[in-house]
Amino acid sequence: MADIKLTLVVACALVDADKRVLIAQRPEGKALAGLWEFPGGKVEPGERPEQTLIRELREEIGIDVSEPCLAPLTFASHAYDSFHLLMPLYICRRWEGMVVAREGQQLAWVRANRLRDYPMPPADIPLIPHLIDLLM
Ligand code: C5P
Repeated sequence: MADIKLTLVVACALVDADKRVLIAQRPEGKALAGLWEFPGGKVEPGERPEQTLIRELREEIGIDVSEPCLAPLTFASHAYDSFHLLMPLYICRRWEGMVVAREGQQLAWVRANRLRDYPMPPADIPLIPHLIDLLM
């Protein structure tokens, strides 16, 4: 059996007071450019997933999240051609600071039942029904 390269990415559904979810558009030059995703990123060696999320949310959208505000909801498990992606999805409803696109990316606050209007990476699509169940 060929070796499988497992990639661990962690993602977060930020939910605002109107139960809208934040998604971000992957920028030009990155894999899957133009597709919309839940903010997050690769878990670096030595990091716990929650630490990764806290770091990525600060870097990408300028907010401060404390670890108790991150609740695991579900996970994605998807076979891409060259690696297998495992991606826990957390929910966060409380944070400090204003959401701003710190990396020039497009951001959108979207109701869970409209998430399918935004093209997403194949790994992310099965996460949508979990958000609909939780938020609609
Ligand atoms: O974000 P980054 O490019 O570091 O993620 C590594 C890979 O994980 C991407 O190339 C993409 O294939 C996958 N990914 C995904 N859905 C996300 C984030 C990443 O499928 N929300």
